[in-house]
Amino acid sequence: MRLDKFLAQSLVDRRKTVRTCIKGGMVEVNGVVITEPAIEIDENSDIIEYDGKVVDFAEKVYYMFNKPAGCITAKKDTVNKTVFDFFSDAYMNGVFHVGRLDKDTEGLLLLTNDGEFEYKLMHPRKHVEKTYFFWALGSLDDKDIKHFEQGVYIEQGNILAKPAKIEVQKRGRYGEYKHEIPLKNLNNIDPKWYNPPVVSGYLTITEGRKHQVKRMLKSVGCSVIYLKRISIGGLMLDKALQKGHYRSLTEMEIKKLFFEI
Ligand code: URA
Repeated sequence: MRLDKFLAQSLVDRRKTVRTCIKGGMVEVNGVVITEPAIEIDENSDIIEYDGKVVDFAEKVYYMFNKPAGCITAKKDTVNKTVFDFFSDAYMNGVFHVGRLDKDTEGLLLLTNDGEFEYKLMHPRKHVEKTYFFWALGSLDDKDIKHFEQGVYIEQGNILAKPAKIEVQKRGRYGEYKHEIPLKNLNNIDPKWYNPPVVSGYLTITEGRKHQVKRMLKSVGCSVIYLKRISIGGLMLDKALQKGHYRSLTEMEIKKLFFEI
C-alpha cells in the first residue's frame, strides 16, 4: 500500500494534508525519515511513525444510518442525543459523519473513517445528487418548479443555488393529508382555525449548504414541516433499516459510490 494512502486512512485525514506532512519530514518508516508520499509500504510488517508516534493501520468502515428526528449530527452535545449515541463504541474508533442532517431531518446519513470518501462525496465540484422527500406548508406551481430547475436565490437573495430537480407528489389542504404527514411541526399554525395548503415531493440537489432544502423551498413561499433524505448518489436508504438503526455498506454499494464520485 502507498505510504500516503496508509496514513490518510489510519489518521483519518485527507491524502493531500498527509502528503504535505510526509514531504515536511514528519514520517518515519522503520526508523528512517521518508519524504516520498508514493513509496510502497507493507502495512502488516513495517513500523510507520507520524510525529514520533507509531500509527496503527485502520481498516476502512462505511455505515448507512437511518437518522431519526431529534438527534444532532455531531460527535458530542451536552443537551441532545447525537447520531453516535445510536452506535456501539467498539465500532466507532475514528469514525465521522459524511455531511450533516438537521436535528429535525430524518433519513440517510453515511458514516466512515475514510477521509477521501467523505471529501469526494461532499465536494461541490463532484455534483453528487442527494434526494430529499418533503412535506411543506404552501403550494408549488409550474413557475416555481421552473425556478428550481434554473437555480433559485436563497435567503436574502444573495446566494444562487445550483439547478435542482423537483417532483411534486401531492398537493392539497392540510386536513386532507394530516394522517400521512409523519411530523406535525406546523410552525405555530393551528389547523383548527386555518386549513393551510400543503405540498409533498422530492427535491434533488447537488450542494450541501446549511438548511439548503428548507431555504430553497422557503424562497418560493413553502415552509418545510417534514424532511427525510432518501438517497445519496445511487445509494438509496435501505427500506428495511428502521429509524435509529445502522448497517455496514455492502462491497457493491461502496464500489458503486466510489465509481460515481
Ligand atoms: N437541507 C435541509 O434544509 N436540512 C437538512 O437536514 C438537509 C438538507
